[in-house]
Amino acid sequence: MSVTMPSNPKSAPAARGGSVGQSVRDVPSHRSDFPILARQVHGKPLVYLDSANTTQKPVAVLERMERYYREENANIHRGTHLLSELATAAYEGAREKVRGFLNAKSTREIVFLRGTTEAINLVATSFGQAFVKKGDEILITTMEHHSNIVPWQLLRERTGAVLKVVPIDDRGEMVFEEYERLLSDRTKLVSIVHVSNALGTVNPVKRVIDLAHARNVPVLVDGAQSTPHVPVDVQAMDCDFFAFSGHKIYGPTGAGALYAKEKWLEAMPPYQGGGDMIASVSFEKTTYNELPYKFEAGTSNIAGGIGVGAAIDYLQAIGLDAIAAHEHELLVYGTERLLEIPGLTLVGTAREKAGVLSFVMDEIHPHDIGTILDREGVAIRTGHHCAQPVMTRYGLPATARASLGLYNTREDLDALAKGLGKVREVFG
Ligand SMILES: Cc1ncc(COP(=O)(O)O)c(C=O)c1O
Repeated sequence: MSVTMPSNPKSAPAARGGSVGQSVRDVPSHRSDFPILARQVHGKPLVYLDSANTTQKPVAVLERMERYYREENANIHRGTHLLSELATAAYEGAREKVRGFLNAKSTREIVFLRGTTEAINLVATSFGQAFVKKGDEILITTMEHHSNIVPWQLLRERTGAVLKVVPIDDRGEMVFEEYERLLSDRTKLVSIVHVSNALGTVNPVKRVIDLAHARNVPVLVDGAQSTPHVPVDVQAMDCDFFAFSGHKIYGPTGAGALYAKEKWLEAMPPYQGGGDMIASVSFEKTTYNELPYKFEAGTSNIAGGIGVGAAIDYLQAIGLDAIAAHEHELLVYGTERLLEIPGLTLVGTAREKAGVLSFVMDEIHPHDIGTILDREGVAIRTGHHCAQPVMTRYGLPATARASLGLYNTREDLDALAKGLGKVREVFG
């Protein structure tokens, strides 16, 4: 499910909490699950509107990770003792939770990694080594995060491949006709963001994938910003690769996963060499471990993987549909509140949006906006959001960005609007 924004945000309808029943009203009650939200900053209650950057962590995740270190800590896959068995069961249990979260067919298709960035680098390196040569094309869009640009540029340097970029329009939607035009017999892979972190745009990934598959072109979906907000089903989507980060879904930093169809993982060479990824080693020849371990060299982030599993349990207990509906309600409300502020322009007004309010205010530098809001206790991000080509597209050096999580409330958005009123006062 994705959210649909009215074409003119100024005419955004009032919140539609009623449409999904109880769940929408229930979500804010989970706020107390996040201890950090009770703290003050600069003597003011914390209003956290930076979840696209990283989400806060619920007690359930903190406790599960602590329990692992207190009661189960051992290395996985190689011990004969009880603790190693417990740690292995917890880690592999978390892999099964990731499989269920994405609705992958098998845990053989789930590779635990540091997060989205490492997942895309793995594909660029291993898929690139196996399948990409000089003159082949990789297709991305203007709205990609740097982590879905630079790995392909590195591949370009290694192979002489060509990077093609689908433009976006003024709203921040990909120009689909251009995508159709750029997709060609030379295209080796399409790599596209599901939800833009800089604009909030939800891309029509299913249409993107169907069109690419009609030409036998595989598709990677960067799910860093979709996984916290909307249910994902990789089989229904039929993507070939899907990357996400634990820390964006209320889990720990430094842990995330790559989903890849088994046929690709079988065909791709290992990404890194080391312990755990081998079946046998001699100086003459090394054979590789079965999937997914072939792609998990060295001691993994065991606590991190277990923490991601706990975060998935947490999200699923609330329900991704309920979270999406709650955040949609806030997005509509926040859009209305921001548009009341004189001189404020929203950057990114796609018809399908999730969780992100990027904006600029006349000549006021976004860093000044962020600093004044911080003194009011309101945490947002300012800058290029690791998406500099988006800024270039709009002729801006930076934007201010408020981004939503399941714990946010209308009061948070009221505090943002009040803080922006202060910004107005200071800058006249
Ligand atoms: C759309 C998108 N892709 C990729 C990333 C990179 O994620 P990570 O730094 O967790 O690897 C981010 C992080 O902000 C993102 O928003």
